[in-house]
Amino acid sequence: MRLDTFIPLITLAAALPSRWGSDSTNTPCRSTQLSAEWRETVVQNWLTIWNDMDFSLLDVAVSPDIIIYQDRFATGTGDGSIEFVVNNASTFQSFVEVSRNGFSKYVFEGTKYFGEDDLVALEWTLDATIEESQGTTAPGTDVAYNGTDLFVLDRCNGVIKEVRSHQDLIRWYHALGADVGAP
Ligand SMILES: *[C@@H]1O[C@H](CO)[C@@H](O)[C@H](O)[C@H]1NC(C)=O
Ligand SMILES: *[C@@H]1O[C@H](CO)[C@@H](O)[C@H](O)[C@H]1NC(C)=O
Repeated sequence: MRLDTFIPLITLAAALPSRWGSDSTNTPCRSTQLSAEWRETVVQNWLTIWNDMDFSLLDVAVSPDIIIYQDRFATGTGDGSIEFVVNNASTFQSFVEVSRNGFSKYVFEGTKYFGEDDLVALEWTLDATIEESQGTTAPGTDVAYNGTDLFVLDRCNGVIKEVRSHQDLIRWYHALGADVGAP
């Protein structure tokens, strides 16, 4: 992952009024905006956790109570969909581990990101290679899909407390050869 290939961070802060009203200056966690450097670190840490499974970064990167709001996943057997609940750092780690099962390569590339204060949007592509068939697609096949994560950071310590994730799962399941009904 080379962050220097990203487009420069779009800084909206200068062009917009303050996010917080004047009474918010009494709240320490809301009196200081998070920095562009920290937002870039958040993105790097997130990708390192996913790509290297470096769970030593969990403490600095995510809240113990991290919640991921995400689209439902197809069961892949043509009988509907399931929710994968991520509501703390432990279920997040399991989610990272389980997601890459069956792939010999599983690499997220950040294609664009931008942010403002406690919000960061990361657009990504997952490049993966099938190791064990999950559908009808042969082992060794390269598969890819795109998604976007919106991170909400904790204003007090900068960790990710919420992720709103949207991904092209129908394309993904079709690439895997999983049964998700008619295209
Ligand atoms: C994390 O969430 C799961 C599922 O709700 C729960 O079973 C588990 O006890 C939680 N772990 C911690 C450390 O809170
Ligand atoms: C991902 O999005 C880019 C445009 O940003 C598009 O060119 C590419 O085909 C998409 N890749 C997949 C696998 O959908």
